[in-house]
Amino acid sequence: MNIQLLLSDKIKQAMIAAGAPADCDALVKQSAKAQFGDYQANGIMAAAKKMSLNPRQLAENVVNHLAIDEYVSKVEIAGPGFINLFLNTCWLAKQNQLALDNEKLNLTLADKPHNIIVDYSAPNVAKEMHVGHLRSTIIGDASVRVLEYLGHNVIRANHVGDWGTQFGMLIAYLEKMQNENAQDMELADLEEFYRAAKKHYDEDAVFAEKARNYVVKLQGGDEYCLTMWRKLVDITMTQNVATYKRLNVTLSLADTMGESIYNKLLPEVVSDLKAKGIAVESDGATVVFLDEYKNKEGEPMGVIIQKRDGGYLYATTDIAALKYRYEKLHADRILYYTDSRQHQHLEQVWLIAHRANYIPESLQLEHHMFGMMLGKDGKPFKTRSGDTVKLNDLLDEATERAAALVKSKNPDLTDKELATIVDAVAIGAVKYADLSKNRTTDYVFDWDNMLSFEGNTAPYLQYAYTRVISIFRKANLSMENLAGNIIIEHEKEQALATRLAQFDETITVLTNDGLPHVLCAYLYDIATLFSSFYEHCPVLSAENTALKNSRLKLAALTAKTLKIGLDMLGIKTIEKM
Ligand code: ARG
Repeated sequence: MNIQLLLSDKIKQAMIAAGAPADCDALVKQSAKAQFGDYQANGIMAAAKKMSLNPRQLAENVVNHLAIDEYVSKVEIAGPGFINLFLNTCWLAKQNQLALDNEKLNLTLADKPHNIIVDYSAPNVAKEMHVGHLRSTIIGDASVRVLEYLGHNVIRANHVGDWGTQFGMLIAYLEKMQNENAQDMELADLEEFYRAAKKHYDEDAVFAEKARNYVVKLQGGDEYCLTMWRKLVDITMTQNVATYKRLNVTLSLADTMGESIYNKLLPEVVSDLKAKGIAVESDGATVVFLDEYKNKEGEPMGVIIQKRDGGYLYATTDIAALKYRYEKLHADRILYYTDSRQHQHLEQVWLIAHRANYIPESLQLEHHMFGMMLGKDGKPFKTRSGDTVKLNDLLDEATERAAALVKSKNPDLTDKELATIVDAVAIGAVKYADLSKNRTTDYVFDWDNMLSFEGNTAPYLQYAYTRVISIFRKANLSMENLAGNIIIEHEKEQALATRLAQFDETITVLTNDGLPHVLCAYLYDIATLFSSFYEHCPVLSAENTALKNSRLKLAALTAKTLKIGLDMLGIKTIEKM
């Protein structure tokens, strides 16, 4: 049940009944302060202006037309014409009960599943994943999880960089290694492999010649080169999938939809764009000039889609990918998780695809971009020697730090218990630190903050979850089939119950805008509201059975909400820590 939406609809109906235009907006929001009620409608002033009415008068008129007694116990007009709404606690209790009884918390599921392509992670072949891939991978995965939970068809598109001229030198080097080592090599250290290949290419003329020859052969579909290329892709992706697993990210090998799969389409796309007069020859290259973008000289900006030497570009592949995703995968919506520096690239690619009629206006295209991960010095996060930080090294350090922390708090754990808790806390902390920041800006990566058991962190939420669970364990009670009704009397009960009932409207922000920090802030609220409820409202030692049962139900709904919410973020919960 999405309360915000429900109240918006009701107020809007009343506004229209009071004579407001049909496109008026009730602007119902959660109130910032308890004295303004649980929700506040802010749309009266704008509507009154359009109608040339006194806003307070319109507000009164709207209130007279309101049919919301079932949900709301008190309505107040405040200030210039705000309408404050106080939820009816009996109705609220009913909403909590419905959520508790329903496997999916009575969330509003997709009435018609959409085909949604989520383009995320996208590391490059023959390179190890580094921290630069973390944000796309985990923010994209949170979106995927929520959209699937609500019933959409999600296609994970891991647009890996698996094509390009660098493969000539990589194949030549792989061949050299294979010849020298006799048996198959492991390529454990991809960074080192790439660096060595590049060094040979730069320093050894014979090697470089061979590498250039291999590029041509690979592009021409030569069997040997393709086999070598595939080997490089397989080794890289097998390692990446291991990292995804470690990160509790849902990407598998089958989700790899690298740049190479669009190769066959590129010549066709270029000639088609030319035939349609969208692309033109310029200095031997093929270029699309866009009036919407101006270069420094104020002339239309050119997007090259084929170089003078015949090579295609990143943009050409993305245009072909759009065509493919619409025609073959029947996408209704495509979400791109790449950093903000790629925004103009994507906008230009979308514009060209629209102009060529490869995709209709109805296809929803969204760039859910993000800022950078910074070190404590405010500069891009690097190792002490200034190198990019490998993702696995980062996770190793997180594991070490979490192990020391958990051990010190809990010296009696068995090794097996310890390993489970450490994994959940370490990976959870790194992911949550990222997911809890508004993705649109840069953020500072700080080990101490993210591993703290206080504040808006994964360990705090994971610990809060175990505390709720322990109430049931202590009393030897199951969370299923609790007796009685939810009774909301104490203000702490009401605050918790109200927030619990706002889960649906919270995850809407994630499904619409891909902003997981809103869900993080919500779960943090739930944990702190529960903690203060638990302090003021005895549960197991409540005055009477009815009260005890009611409070157990609020506790159970808290646990369920935390678990499902953290799971949507790809963060594990544990029963004990
Ligand atoms: N591989 C690219 C990179 O590392 C990201 C790909 C993003 N997706 C896309 N369709 N362009 O920057």
